[in-house]
Amino acid sequence: MHFASARTARLAGSLALALVVAACGGKASSTQTTPSTPESGSAATATAKPALPDVPFDNLDHEQRAEFMKQKVVPALEQIFKKHDAQKYAEFGCKTCHGKGADQGHFDLPNMDLPLIGMDAMQKFKPEQLEWMVKEVKPTMAKLLGQPEWTPQNPTGFGCGGCHPHAKS
Ligand code: HEC
Ligand code: HEC
Repeated sequence: MHFASARTARLAGSLALALVVAACGGKASSTQTTPSTPESGSAATATAKPALPDVPFDNLDHEQRAEFMKQKVVPALEQIFKKHDAQKYAEFGCKTCHGKGADQGHFDLPNMDLPLIGMDAMQKFKPEQLEWMVKEVKPTMAKLLGQPEWTPQNPTGFGCGGCHPHAKS
């Protein structure tokens, strides 16, 4: 029973990822994909920070996603990581989550260099190493992306597997 539920949780986690990907594909065909050009010609559009349209992350194009990461994700998560360990995360940036590939413009996740997620794989970590992930990193990221959080009741939500690889069951 114990093992069965552990495996179910892991399966649900990887399934959640697959479903999230599928759901994104579906949503992209909604009516919100038409790009709007706000006030073209105004001097404001030439500033260093391109304005982001107020649509869900999934509906942004590649450039806008990168810009969203720069403007919203990095500042918010940098605080959390530095509060946890200012020295270790002194150089916080795209690579912290996306890994070395970020230098070459590869932003696909999971980042295979992050710890494996799974009951057994997580056992080597102390509670305080897990807690900031569970209580701060995951919820903050989910909120920024406008996605519900992963729970056993809501397996399509954003969870650990949004960044980490899952251990093979
Ligand atoms: C705190 C972790 C974190 C940091 C730091 C981070 N990202 Fe991300 N990034 C994510 C997550 C999680 C996703 C996937 C969102 C989703 O579920 O669709 C993502 C998605 C992306 C995507 C979309 C990828 C795709 O295939 O559509 C791009 C592009 C991207 N990030 C670029 C960047 C850039 C550029 C930086 C640095 C300025 C950065 N990210 C920093 C976590 C992070
Ligand atoms: C937004 C991306 C993201 C999400 C979501 C996420 N993590 Fe992490 N996690 C990271 C990054 C980045 C690190 C730091 C890796 C490093 O130090 O190089 C990390 C580190 C860890 C560590 C090691 C912590 C330490 O103090 O050394 C554990 C354990 C962990 N994550 C577990 C989890 C669990 C469990 C979940 C889900 C509840 C989760 N993570 C969700 C990005 C994420």
